[in-house]
Amino acid sequence: MFHRLRSLTVILTLSLFAISCSRDQSSIKIGEYASLTGKEAAFGQSSHKGTLLAIEAINEEGGVLGKKIQLVSEDNQSKSGESATIVKKLITREKVVALLGEVASSRSMEAATVAQQFKVPMLSPASTNPKVTEIGDYIFRVCFIDPFQGTALAKFARQDLKAKRVAILTSVSSAYSVGLATYFRERFLADGGEIVLDSRFTEGDKDFKAQLTAIKATNPDAIFVPGYYTEAALICKQARDLGMNIPLFGGDGWEAPELLKIGGTAVEGTYYSTHYSPESPAPEVKAFVEKFKKRWNGETPDAMAALGYDSALVLVDAIKRAGSTEPAKIREALATTKDVLGATGRTTIDAQRNATKAAVVIVVKDGKFSFVKAVEP
Ligand code: PHE
Repeated sequence: MFHRLRSLTVILTLSLFAISCSRDQSSIKIGEYASLTGKEAAFGQSSHKGTLLAIEAINEEGGVLGKKIQLVSEDNQSKSGESATIVKKLITREKVVALLGEVASSRSMEAATVAQQFKVPMLSPASTNPKVTEIGDYIFRVCFIDPFQGTALAKFARQDLKAKRVAILTSVSSAYSVGLATYFRERFLADGGEIVLDSRFTEGDKDFKAQLTAIKATNPDAIFVPGYYTEAALICKQARDLGMNIPLFGGDGWEAPELLKIGGTAVEGTYYSTHYSPESPAPEVKAFVEKFKKRWNGETPDAMAALGYDSALVLVDAIKRAGSTEPAKIREALATTKDVLGATGRTTIDAQRNATKAAVVIVVKDGKFSFVKAVEP
């Protein structure tokens, strides 16, 4: 009796296993790794919401190649070292056919090394450091890169802010920050500007008084902070505390509702460049903003959400054109991506596996992000 019962259990378990296997085969697994918690949770939360919105819409319309897409998401907790581990797990255990992620360049670079090694295509929504896609032929992105963003910011500082003497405060532990500072500096100097002080900090720092006091002594026209919102907001606060009322500005890393929450009135009149504005009158942007708000409790999508959405559209477009879920075939199709229309404009992947898109400049006004101008590539 006991034996029979046990063999029955074995048969039951085996058939359940068979069912779940066949279910797996009827869906296409795409891996997503993101900073869903931790220091830059705003990045991962936003990109994830955009990505999921796109996948759900695609599934509602029948999926791709006759199959539904299953998004398998993993959280790296905004920690360095985690992305490589979870991406390896997504590839070897979950057998994902492609990867979406990340926002922060340093973490994308960690994951890209693993993706390249296993030959699984990876598409970053928002990492702008050039080195990310240089890691190998399996690594792509749907956003512009920092030589363009740095140049756009240098031109903005010279022409619009009329700044001649600028101090830079770089996060030396972030590939993104170091890169953006370099590209900004090059163009700003070429345009006749002067860098009065090159100051630095490390991710996670909370006290910037020493650097800001030294900056104040040089009497600059503006301060450039190429970094992420957590530190940028504190830097703005402490600069105001020290009585500095000059403009502070940064790049896309400033974008998060937390900039306003942490920074309060200290971030009024600060500027940053980013990938998109929800205020754009373009019909594809309007449609995206509406769909996003409906799905996510009235929340207005930011740049990370828009890029997360676009990354999913571009990947699914590639799977469709590949006519296959083989990673090598998806890779080939990704490399020939052309004019895929999304929330951040049209994505065309170039020979370096990057995209070329316009940037927008945002100002913080009356506690809100407000569109200033677009910078064409
Ligand atoms: N571009 C930043 C990086 O490479 C990440 C980022 C993108 C942050 C878009 C905010 C908005 O690290």
